[in-house]
Amino acid sequence: MKLLEIQSSVRLDRSISRALSHEFIQAWQNSHPNALHKQQDVGMHPPAHPTELWTTANYLPPDSRTPEMETALAASEQLIEELLWADRLLLGVPMYNFSVPSTFKAYLDNIVRVNRTFAFDSANFTFKGLAIGKKALVITPSAGDFAPDTPMGSLNFCETYLRSILGFIGIEDITIVAVPNQFMPDEIRQQSIEQARAKLMDLATTW
Ligand SMILES: Cc1cc2nc3c(=O)[nH]c(=O)nc-3n(C[C@H](O)[C@H](O)[C@H](O)COP(=O)(O)O)c2cc1C
Repeated sequence: MKLLEIQSSVRLDRSISRALSHEFIQAWQNSHPNALHKQQDVGMHPPAHPTELWTTANYLPPDSRTPEMETALAASEQLIEELLWADRLLLGVPMYNFSVPSTFKAYLDNIVRVNRTFAFDSANFTFKGLAIGKKALVITPSAGDFAPDTPMGSLNFCETYLRSILGFIGIEDITIVAVPNQFMPDEIRQQSIEQARAKLMDLATTW
């Protein structure tokens, strides 16, 4: 089993997504003692945004790219190789402005690429994910509560976007553990963390 952990919170010490991810990985490794684990920290080391040269290179066949184009795509290629290596993805993705952190969006812009993680059939205008055979587990804290049946539920573009974009590249087995109410009084905040922790500890043996 090969686990790729991706963290996107801009916080280190007080980050709920990082703390719960750490606890989960320890418990998961106890149940999967031979598993391999890599971490990609896009919160601390955001991937570069695509550039004009990057985009031109992306749409050319690999053997038509210039050395400069290959250099422009090198970091993206590495991120894709790492993603394709993994069969389990643990994603720490807090809600930022109703969506994913911009660091995580920059990561997605680097890994969602034609003929690498998805294929496009121009005759039928259909797409097929190529990053298949993987499971994703997402830990997503937020200040408020964005569950579907709450007043703010329709603003949860974080979860809907993650399900859409991961599904687009072929990752359909997605478990999302929300950690809402992180700006609420301490008792409510802690209760939310405990509920998420209990779900994650269950998943540590079954996921
Ligand atoms: C730039 C930024 C934007 C945020 N936007 C939202 C938001 O739209 N809705 C929300 O409920 N919380 C929002 N928050 C709060 C975070 O989701 C919350 O603090 C969460 O615990 C952060 O994850 P972390 O603890 O892993 O760092 C935002 C925080 C930041 C830094």
